[in-house]
Amino acid sequence: SLLPTATVATIARHAGQRVTLAGWVYHKTEKGKLIFILLRDGSGTIQCVTFKKNVSEATFATAQALTQESSCRITGSVRADERAPGGYELDVEEIELIGPSHDYPITPKEHGVEFLMEHRHLWVRSSKQHAILRIRAEVIAAAQEWLNEQGFVRFDTPILTATAAEGTTNLFATDYFDLGKAYLAQTGQLYVEAGMMAFGRVYCFGPTFRAEKSKTRRHLTEFWMIEPEVAFADHEDNMRLQEQFVSAIVARVLDRRREDLKVLERDTTVLEQVVPPFPRITYDQAIELIASHQGEVEGADPLPWGEDFGAPHETLIASKFDRPVFVERFPSAVKAFYMQPDPNRPEVALCADLLAPEGYGEIIGGSQRIHDPVLLEQRIREHGLRIEDYEWYLDLRRYGTVPHSGFGMGIERVVAWITGTRHIRETIPFPRQLYRIYP
Ligand code: 4AD
Ligand code: MG
Repeated sequence: SLLPTATVATIARHAGQRVTLAGWVYHKTEKGKLIFILLRDGSGTIQCVTFKKNVSEATFATAQALTQESSCRITGSVRADERAPGGYELDVEEIELIGPSHDYPITPKEHGVEFLMEHRHLWVRSSKQHAILRIRAEVIAAAQEWLNEQGFVRFDTPILTATAAEGTTNLFATDYFDLGKAYLAQTGQLYVEAGMMAFGRVYCFGPTFRAEKSKTRRHLTEFWMIEPEVAFADHEDNMRLQEQFVSAIVARVLDRRREDLKVLERDTTVLEQVVPPFPRITYDQAIELIASHQGEVEGADPLPWGEDFGAPHETLIASKFDRPVFVERFPSAVKAFYMQPDPNRPEVALCADLLAPEGYGEIIGGSQRIHDPVLLEQRIREHGLRIEDYEWYLDLRRYGTVPHSGFGMGIERVVAWITGTRHIRETIPFPRQLYRIYP
């Protein structure tokens, strides 16, 4: 086996011991009889000190030949050193070259974003990308484990679907044998509602697709969404669940991924403030807020009642709060067909968008769902959708309907916010955008 006997992340356990590490050369400097190899093993980096008189001629020659991103196994003894970034160094005894690397394209100098995106398959090895993607993994683990602990059951929903759920203008279609067109799921919500009727509290988690024609720093055509759905929960219950959920995720990242946040130079004081309750404003109040702060954010011009916000409006609203803010009760006309109208004011929906601070935009969209079969059927028709396609969904209201609510949290938006990454393309290993499908 070529497996290492230790990893950089757990090197402290091996202080004073002889270990074999396996990884890639991140950086190398030579000073006469000394060669310093900064080895990256995926869990961290460590300085490996090769002193000519301590190693065989062959090993010293191997050290001299190592280039950026060569893979190798290095055996040596672990020595505590206060000056070392991780507190430890490795005194090299033996080096085995595994795979050479010549003219690695990503050098320590600055590269343009286009170049880096073309080399995304290599770029993910760089320290900042590595930190962002580790935090992504932590966010996903935190989200699922928190829901599991709260008694939610993961309920997987299909990606190939027959119907639209979030409007018909951004569907990806593909031929589906003799059955006509299939569409890539924009959301798992409609199916997770069926799961909710079986299990009470469920969530789905997976990739979702929107053929977004917009080229913004907040939109991907393929993004990952986690969507909890709760039976008997109303709009208020829904917002309470969301603020607890988001706070728990942020707290876990602060707890377990501090080093990565440091690499990203993230100001963590703003993340420490993310505790319930989150402020709430209505859509109407948001419209007034936008009008009274005209000119503060470019593009956030006043809107007539009934129009949806653009990204600049969201940035302006969020800038007035120190933690995520709910904007609730949007006009039904700008929202999806399944949202429950406010009984006191049927022109608005019992829904909320959760806006992240610092201009990262909407991280959650959620609502109470229509549970009345007659009203739901009417809404489906009003949206120009074919009733036949939604018979199964209407069945959920015909057999033991209950008021219920749920929401969808976009993983990449949350990761962008937590890591302080301006552009969403760096928050997923291989972003899919209007102009990008390679690599
Ligand atoms: O607000 P949306 O469209 O809501 C739904 O899809 C509901 N069915 C969710 C539910 O109630 N179960 O999308 C939810 C979230 C947004 O708040 C945003 O975080 C993310 O998904 N999102 C995107 N992320 C990246 N790129 C895009 N094109 C996105 N569109 C939505
Ligand atoms: Mg939304």
